[in-house]
Amino acid sequence: MKKIWWKEAVAYQIYPRSFMDSNGDGIGDLPGITSKLDYLKELGIDVIWISPVYKSPNDDNGYDISDYQDIMDEFGTIEEFDKLLSGIHERGMKVIMDLVLNHTSDEHPWFIESRSSRNNSKRDYYIWRDGKNGAEPNNWESMFNGSAWEYDETTGQYYLHLYSRRQPDLNMENPEVRQELADMIRWWLDKGIDGFRVDAITHIKKLPGLPDMPNPHGLRYVDSAAGHRNIEGIHDFLQQFKKTYADYDIMTVGEASGAPISEADRWIGEENGAFNMIFQFEHVNLDFGSDGRWDFGPWDLAKLKQIIKKWQTGLEGIGWNALYLENHDQPRSVSRFGDPVNYPKASAKMLATFFMLMQGTPFIYQGQEIGMTNVVFNKLSEYRDVEIYNYYRERLMDGKDVEDTMRRISYRARDNARTPMQWNDSVSGGLSEGIPWIGVNPNYHDINVEQQVADPDSILNYYKELIKLRKANEALIYGKYDDWLEEHPEIFAYTRTFEGRMFLIVLNFYANHPELEIPLELRGRGCRVAISNYSRPEQLNDKFKMEPYEAIVYELNPS
Ligand code: GLC
Ligand code: CA
Repeated sequence: MKKIWWKEAVAYQIYPRSFMDSNGDGIGDLPGITSKLDYLKELGIDVIWISPVYKSPNDDNGYDISDYQDIMDEFGTIEEFDKLLSGIHERGMKVIMDLVLNHTSDEHPWFIESRSSRNNSKRDYYIWRDGKNGAEPNNWESMFNGSAWEYDETTGQYYLHLYSRRQPDLNMENPEVRQELADMIRWWLDKGIDGFRVDAITHIKKLPGLPDMPNPHGLRYVDSAAGHRNIEGIHDFLQQFKKTYADYDIMTVGEASGAPISEADRWIGEENGAFNMIFQFEHVNLDFGSDGRWDFGPWDLAKLKQIIKKWQTGLEGIGWNALYLENHDQPRSVSRFGDPVNYPKASAKMLATFFMLMQGTPFIYQGQEIGMTNVVFNKLSEYRDVEIYNYYRERLMDGKDVEDTMRRISYRARDNARTPMQWNDSVSGGLSEGIPWIGVNPNYHDINVEQQVADPDSILNYYKELIKLRKANEALIYGKYDDWLEEHPEIFAYTRTFEGRMFLIVLNFYANHPELEIPLELRGRGCRVAISNYSRPEQLNDKFKMEPYEAIVYELNPS
């Protein structure tokens, strides 16, 4: 396996709106990020992924771009971006930008032109169709609920939008569109950025003819057949984009919902893959209910084990994993997979140990390193996400129970991850001196950076130690992954092995005291405890009871 800088990196995602505000308007901004670079360096971060900061009317918080080559007014100026960029590079860190290729804002000049008349030169930049029998051109539903088509009076046709109606899909079949995007990509690379996280990339190709789908409702987020997810021919586009940046030493990670591991080589093969890594969705879709993403049920450890094993062993020798539990679209991991009430600290540390030491590049999402949790908003009006309002409206129209709807929203809302970063105990948790654009989680008094910096036993300091451990041991970066105790209902165990060195990671995913029985093959070797969230003696008994949410990493002596 090739050694490459981005395999050794630890990445950190910033959602700029909620990270740090420099001018008291309640909205995080670029100078705010710049002011926190030392914090990130100190944490051990190598690569920063910044969610979109481009010009945008903010229908979907920047994922609706109206100018790819300028900065959103609320976030600052291009000069402030340059300052941020050099601040990152001066500290020996790198930055990857969010690249949204599937769609633009409806306020992008291309779309304004495109919608102006049927024979405008930009008409074909987007996907326009006539209605069918007085209704939408097909039955596709938007990922943000409702039809994926919007009727436009001016020209009497519909345009396609897989996300909000203010995010019209670009027509990737048009070579001019691909050329414009490629030029834009090079413009950013020439500015000196170090790569991209590529948004919603499995959707850029649509099934020719845009046919009706058998289960339009199932199309959203669920990895079932859709007319717009991982469609044959998509790799021609992706390879073309790849050529655009072939001569830059960068890191690329695709957000690839629905890309199956059987196609790993085309997506992330070390030689020919479209990207260096992809974010797959299987482990974060574990708690979907029978009614899809908005429905939720208990998740299953046995299934989690299967999914992790599949990607960890399946990519060995083929490509590289992107490791994550959280991002700006997912509820907080302690609230989903841990116990935020009884074991907030132990379970946050256990989850950190779980995902940070597998094979791949770990991505920490802002606030995860201090164990931020889901928020409780009691009123719909406290939410900010366009997706939630669409969902709520649709449920009401379907005559569904309001309380049940609010319960679903409270669990699944993307806003759970978008509340202000909890820096300290001052008003609004230190995001801003003004009123933050979205309410702060009231638990900021107990969960905040300032307090955790000072506490040697904090989640934050555990993350720092974990990052140091990973960096100091190639086995934890390049090591082969093997799973153990496959049948155990409560304990997750894996080893990482490289050039004669071996680490054993054991994790209790429950608030119980399950008995850990060390597999025979791993017994009788001396060891040291490399890190643990309880205090554990430096010896590996063949059998012992684990503490609730305990995580222990043993470095085993060579056998
Ligand atoms: C991706 C982003 C999400 C956004 C969507 C549309 O899934 O992560 O936040 O809403 O694409 O751009
Ligand atoms: Ca601001």
